Amino acid sequence: MSKLYCEFDPKRAPADKTLPGLLKGQKALVTGANSGIGKACAIELGKAGADVVVNYVKGDEAAKEVVDTIISGGSKAFAYQADVSKEDQVQAMFKRMREEFGTIDILINNAGIQKDSKFTEMSLDLWNLVIGINLTGQFLCAREAVREFKRRGVIPEVSVSAGKIICISSVHDVIPWGGHVNYAASKGGVMLMMKSIAQEVAPDRIRVNSICPGAIRTPINTAAWDTPEAYSELMTLVPYQRIGEPEDIGRMSVFLASDMADYMTGANVYIDGGMTLYPGFASGG
Ligand SMILES: NC(=O)c1ccc[n+]([C@@H]2O[C@H](COP(=O)([O-])OP(=O)(O)OC[C@H]3O[C@@H](n4cnc5c(N)ncnc54)[C@H](O)[C@@H]3O)[C@@H](O)[C@H]2O)c1
Repeated sequence: MSKLYCEFDPKRAPADKTLPGLLKGQKALVTGANSGIGKACAIELGKAGADVVVNYVKGDEAAKEVVDTIISGGSKAFAYQADVSKEDQVQAMFKRMREEFGTIDILINNAGIQKDSKFTEMSLDLWNLVIGINLTGQFLCAREAVREFKRRGVIPEVSVSAGKIICISSVHDVIPWGGHVNYAASKGGVMLMMKSIAQEVAPDRIRVNSICPGAIRTPINTAAWDTPEAYSELMTLVPYQRIGEPEDIGRMSVFLASDMADYMTGANVYIDGGMTLYPGFASGG
């Protein structure tokens, strides 16, 4: 019953608006692409003409479904299982991508987890697990991508830049989040990692940006939206009065990866229905 309530939410994201062919000839890698936001990015990039590596850590069937969807739309795709927090697995994934697709033009650094605990009860293992995937994982993938972008340089018929990295961060790179200190620290870290890489590699015509989602309807935060009570509570934080859909993020990933965004680098793009607008001040302060 509660699921239906959310499925028939009249304020859902609008229908598909992807521009076909915008990323024709480009090769993309999306981490954590068999669920939620990563899945939507992989499918939207595929619809826009990119060939896509669908990275995942668990869930062969779900990864295969994403691959099949992309192939049925006319782009190439294959699934690759790798834990982004492990250096050897990340390097093997990039090697395989070069063998299969020749190079990489677009990295969507998306894989992430949330493992909550009260601060005083947070174990070092829980801290390291979240930092290892959400921050170190993004570092390892970004480093391999930049190495390849620099090796290959600009190919003007493909794109006016040598490569694009899009980090999936969160509104919690600026909104503190008690009970989720490991998660907020990982996303705060992504912000300055992204901006520092962007500053360092801009002269090589490599663009690095982040998308910072608010509340998006995915398995990572089911408890925040899957009952009418939870959904109404969530809406007190969202001025635009609807939850975000994974496609809201997927479409922005296409824009940022395309030459339409060629002068954008080092930017944090918040897609959050106004969550970062201090909604509590709308009627007070
Ligand atoms: N859903 C939201 O409201 C929201 C808001 C802000 C930011 N985000 C961020 O968006 C990203 C995607 O989250 P989601 O909401 O789609 O959740 P999700 O749980 O649906 O997807 C997470 C994906 O990451 C993959 N993954 C986890 N550990 C991995 C590892 N070690 N190596 C490779 N892949 C791994 C999972 O298999 C899955 O495909 C995360 O970085 C998350 O922090 C989500």
